Amino acid sequence: MTTIKLREGAPGASILGLGSYRPRRRVTNDELAQVMDTNDEWIQSRVGIAERRWASEDETLVDMSIAAGGKALAASGLAPDQIDLVIVASASLTAPIPGIGPQVAHRLGIPRPGAFDLNAGCAGFCYALSVANDAIRTGEATNVLVVGVERLSDVTDQTDRSTAVIFADGAGAAVLGPTDEPGIGPVAWGSDGDQYTAIEIAAGRSTMTMAGQAVYRWATTKLTQTLIEAMEKAGVTAADIDVFAPHQANLRIIESMAKKLGFGEDTVIARDVVLSGNTSAASVPLALTALMESGEAKSGDLALVLGYGAGLTFAGQVLRLP
Ligand SMILES: CC(C)(COP(=O)(O)OP(=O)(O)OC[C@H]1O[C@@H](n2cnc3c(N)ncnc32)[C@H](O)[C@@H]1OP(=O)(O)O)[C@@H](O)C(=O)NCCC(=O)NCCS
Repeated sequence: MTTIKLREGAPGASILGLGSYRPRRRVTNDELAQVMDTNDEWIQSRVGIAERRWASEDETLVDMSIAAGGKALAASGLAPDQIDLVIVASASLTAPIPGIGPQVAHRLGIPRPGAFDLNAGCAGFCYALSVANDAIRTGEATNVLVVGVERLSDVTDQTDRSTAVIFADGAGAAVLGPTDEPGIGPVAWGSDGDQYTAIEIAAGRSTMTMAGQAVYRWATTKLTQTLIEAMEKAGVTAADIDVFAPHQANLRIIESMAKKLGFGEDTVIARDVVLSGNTSAASVPLALTALMESGEAKSGDLALVLGYGAGLTFAGQVLRLP
């Protein structure tokens, strides 16, 4: 029997550069209160969001991906032709055919890479990070561009107070490459498909509905274990974590997870949700870039990340910041 040869992989993969794009338009809680029955006090106390960004017409999913991806490429020091795989995570593609991965790659000048879109709801970026990590470790790719991008304002009823105050737009990206030391730990991922209608665009509808309380309960009771599992798989403890950057869905969920894991003053906690809202697959890289730009997180820090959302899906891992 002829043996199928496999490729030689790298001992590990790491994030070499991060980048993000925030849409120009800031939408404050007071602005939303003019078109729906809500108020700044309710939103800040229940969700922790002070403002969010909504993309304008000229800030398409592809445009925002290119902006964030271009910055991540520049930060990585790699040339576009050194990238051989592009993964774009998004849950708000309004045109399913074609996927945007190939176009994002083309417009960034990346010649003929493997390119595809991935939809794992708000967990999309962390799912994509894991796929990219494994592609590098198995030798299927050398350097990978991962983008998380959303225009949730397109799929949100902008007068529905149960979703419009939460969901927002933006893009974040990471370039991954091979390294001797692993810079990305094993993923702790899974899904609870019995709750598949908790966040959905139902058949025949164009906007999202969400069972807010059910999702809140699920996130605060089930996902601490996922975070613990991600740390255990990577062989680290909470005391080793410098930066905690979970999905930016709700400040109360973030604080609850941080408390359960025992993160104290020594751990930097991402609170980008306050200024960005819930940007789904873009939220983790947006939060990480914000912390690095402000100097709160630094190169070499060990971060614990987690994405979770529609599906219901979840994925977390430990990673070293570039
Ligand atoms: C959505 C969420 C903020 C709602 O908060 P909550 O405390 O569960 O609020 P409830 O739905 O119980 O509503 C409480 C009251 O506030 C009202 N309310 C709901 N949205 C409101 C808004 N935007 N402004 C003002 N009042 C609002 C409700 O009508 C209800 O009023 P009532 O008591 O008179 O009936 C919260 O459930 C949540 O964050 N869930 C998780 C969602 C999430 O993270 N999703 C993303 C995962 S990717």
